[in-house]
Amino acid sequence: MAILNILRYPDPRLHKVAKPVTVFDAKLEQLVADMAETMYEAPGVGLAASQVDFHEQLLIIDTSDTKDALTVFINPEIIWASDEMQVYDEGCLSVPGVYDGVERHARVKVRALDVKGLPFELEADGLLAVCIQHEMDHLLGKVFVEYLSPLKRNRIKTKMQKEERGLQREEMLRAQGRRF
Ligand code: NI
Repeated sequence: MAILNILRYPDPRLHKVAKPVTVFDAKLEQLVADMAETMYEAPGVGLAASQVDFHEQLLIIDTSDTKDALTVFINPEIIWASDEMQVYDEGCLSVPGVYDGVERHARVKVRALDVKGLPFELEADGLLAVCIQHEMDHLLGKVFVEYLSPLKRNRIKTKMQKEERGLQREEMLRAQGRRF
């Protein structure tokens, strides 16, 4: 198992559109295991393959308190969504430290394949419904901050770019052994 690097907004790779998964093999199972380890370590309740720079339609979610109920969604489709909407304060592992309200369907029904390629359907509400819609957006190359006003989004972009430069500088100094 391995911890994967999570792309940070505004990395342009987060906007790639994922292709359907066609091969269900040991490599895919390894990727799912690595993504799960990465998500639990972060910690987060959902992770889309796009966020670890793998552009196929795969996402994982675990909204349980006990962190032992991982669900793998491959090639997911929303087959029904409620007219009722809900606003939830969302965060994203690709936009650390940023939380804001996004309006989404309160309930959705999803059809997907599991890691072995077997189809299943699931009806979700509450946090799980939010999470499914948030992660499916990632597969379309969409990050939740794109629902916010241009003003807010630009402020977030600037903050993230500043942090990124700080991280790069710290990494460089550490590599030069400048920590005593
Ligand atoms: Ni996210």
